[in-house]
Amino acid sequence: MKVLITVASKHGSTLELGRAIAEALVKRGIAVSFLRPEKVTSLEGLDAVVLGSAVYSNKMLPTMTALGYRWGDRLSALPVYLFCSGPLSANPQAVAQLPLDARILARHIGARSAKLFGGRLRMGELRPAERALMRMGGIPHGDYRDWGAALRWAGQIADDALGGVWAAAPEDPAA
Ligand SMILES: Cc1cc2nc3c(=O)[nH]c(=O)nc-3n(C[C@H](O)[C@H](O)[C@H](O)COP(=O)(O)O)c2cc1C
Repeated sequence: MKVLITVASKHGSTLELGRAIAEALVKRGIAVSFLRPEKVTSLEGLDAVVLGSAVYSNKMLPTMTALGYRWGDRLSALPVYLFCSGPLSANPQAVAQLPLDARILARHIGARSAKLFGGRLRMGELRPAERALMRMGGIPHGDYRDWGAALRWAGQIADDALGGVWAAAPEDPAA
């Protein structure tokens, strides 16, 4: 069983979520390769793919969108799990709905599950323009990633892998 995890991240926090998901799969005996979206040149020999992207200006990062549509046909034929990380809030409502472009991509490729997690903002690592934008908007810095939720989601992926459900027809994530 081999899964590719590919994550688009500007400041590393979404990458860390991807790595935690990877470790959880490896612990369940699933082989994982981990590549940045721009480094993906083939989807041959994979049993499933996990796509992850940080959210900026209500959108996934362009490298993830590009990958999703460049490999759309191939991804449609594989079990795909999509996650985004962004909202800077502890309110559960903040992670209730993925950005529109992620929902459209999830539907386009028939993702089995599409999930939104909170994000992390560290003022110190932002570019000056980003920092100014965050200060102007009064956006709180902090770490709102829900590791428990991410590990539970990884557990569902592992359950699917080991339970043999990847042979079945994909579910509609928007249903
Ligand atoms: C300039 C800027 C714009 C952002 N826009 C959004 C947004 O529209 N929606 C959202 O949920 N999060 C937004 N965020 C929060 C990021 O998605 C969050 O910090 C995320 O964890 C960053 O991931 P990364 O460290 O992998 O780049 C924004 C952050 C910055 C700095």
